[in-house]
Amino acid sequence: MDERIINALRAATRVVVFTGAGVSAESGIPTFRDKQTGLWEQFDASELATPDAFERDPPLVWGWYEWRRGLVLGAQPNAGHRAIAAMADHVPYFTLITQNVDDLHERAGSSDVLHLHGELSRPYCEACRRHYVYPEGIPDVLPGGTRLQPPRCTACGARIRPGVVWFGERVPELPWVAAREAAKHCEVFLCCGTSALVQPAASLADIAIAAGATTVQVNPNPTDLDTSVTVAIRGPSGIVLPQLVSEAWGYP
Ligand code: APR
Repeated sequence: MDERIINALRAATRVVVFTGAGVSAESGIPTFRDKQTGLWEQFDASELATPDAFERDPPLVWGWYEWRRGLVLGAQPNAGHRAIAAMADHVPYFTLITQNVDDLHERAGSSDVLHLHGELSRPYCEACRRHYVYPEGIPDVLPGGTRLQPPRCTACGARIRPGVVWFGERVPELPWVAAREAAKHCEVFLCCGTSALVQPAASLADIAIAAGATTVQVNPNPTDLDTSVTVAIRGPSGIVLPQLVSEAWGYP
């Protein structure tokens, strides 16, 4: 592994890891811009992840998120999630920021995760915003896609909506401000498994670069960040991150 990264990690007191759907790919969760599977092939994720799509066809959108929730419930964190969780034990000020709506970082042992795009596990009422508690068990949604009526709020009767941030909606203020401050003050910024296309999340890497951090991208494919990060590592996070943590701190 590039010695600049290993030395920077060992010396750092402030490290930020910023993740996208790619870090959950090795857990079997499709990324956003990979081809959709089953019925979902006919849809582009960005056509389903919008307030208009939910208004137009609530059962289709709720069914899609239930299908994804079922995938996540049936999945396990991978070695990349676990390496990120282990990294936090070696860094005085460690911040994990994710665009992912699954809970695989938490299930791998990470805490205080900054979810910029919401969480599948936290749907809420469109009207009174009360959180909705899912019934036990994995939703019975076929991989080919099933329309499911969204549940109703037990308090006010309005529709429950997925707990994610849709295209056109603002990212939640508190996680965003915390993420931006962490990117501004870190010494090492690791950008893992994201196409770095969606704003404002993608601007975090630019903030870290402008602040002079050692910036690293982990992705098997090229992205626009390749030419601006300190080091672009071509590879899957489930392989690269454990290797990074092992070389820096002798993990596990
Ligand atoms: N390890 C690391 N990266 C991987 C792996 C892997 N095993 N497999 C795929 N990738 C990379 C792909 O090369 C791609 O660059 O993960 C990236 C996934 O990109 P997207 O599907 O665009 O996902 P993401 O960057 O998280 O999307 C950002 O867009 O659709 C919205 O809100 C949604 O949070 C999402 C946001």
